[in-house]
Amino acid sequence: MLSPQETTSIRLPPECEPALLERFLKAEAMALWTVRSAQQQEVPPHVYAFLRKHEEDEQQHLAQFEAMIDRQPRVRERLPSVPRQWPVLAVQIYGYESLGLEFARLLLQLRPDLASILDDEEVHVAFFEREIRRLLGGDWAEQARCSAVAWRRKLPTTVNRYLAAAVFDPFRTAVAERILTVIEQRFIETGLLQIQKK
Ligand SMILES: [Fe+2]
Ligand SMILES: [Fe+2]
Repeated sequence: MLSPQETTSIRLPPECEPALLERFLKAEAMALWTVRSAQQQEVPPHVYAFLRKHEEDEQQHLAQFEAMIDRQPRVRERLPSVPRQWPVLAVQIYGYESLGLEFARLLLQLRPDLASILDDEEVHVAFFEREIRRLLGGDWAEQARCSAVAWRRKLPTTVNRYLAAAVFDPFRTAVAERILTVIEQRFIETGLLQIQKK
């Protein structure tokens, strides 16, 4: 696993900050809606308890970004649909929280004042990582692994979409490659993915 220092070795220049904040505004809203939607699914009771706190965190993150870029809260009539089956849902949230964590690391270089967001994302990732390990020790292991392969397959498109702003042009390839490597290694360490033979 790469250390956090290694994962932050790509530095974005200050002119990337507005695009990064815009990206966070969207991602935090999506995280909030996903966590809300997840609470309507059948999840283990201790997960439900965590999701309530998780929702509060994401709500607060979203409010911070809205205030920073002076934007009105976005309303959404319907929550996004999330997988009904807990192993699939767990992999999805684990994946997106891991992705959010890597973006939070990039953001922190430009905005050290936002350290508390990174701390929260680490807590979110750690919680789902424990849940994934638990799932991998039981009957749902195969399903979790299949979901991880499917989620991983879509990840390059997702990352490129997150980095779509023109200001990222000179850094897109390097940043995307770094993020993909870090997340893949995380998934391998957790046991969700197998090491790819090149
Ligand atoms: Fe967040
Ligand atoms: Fe989060």
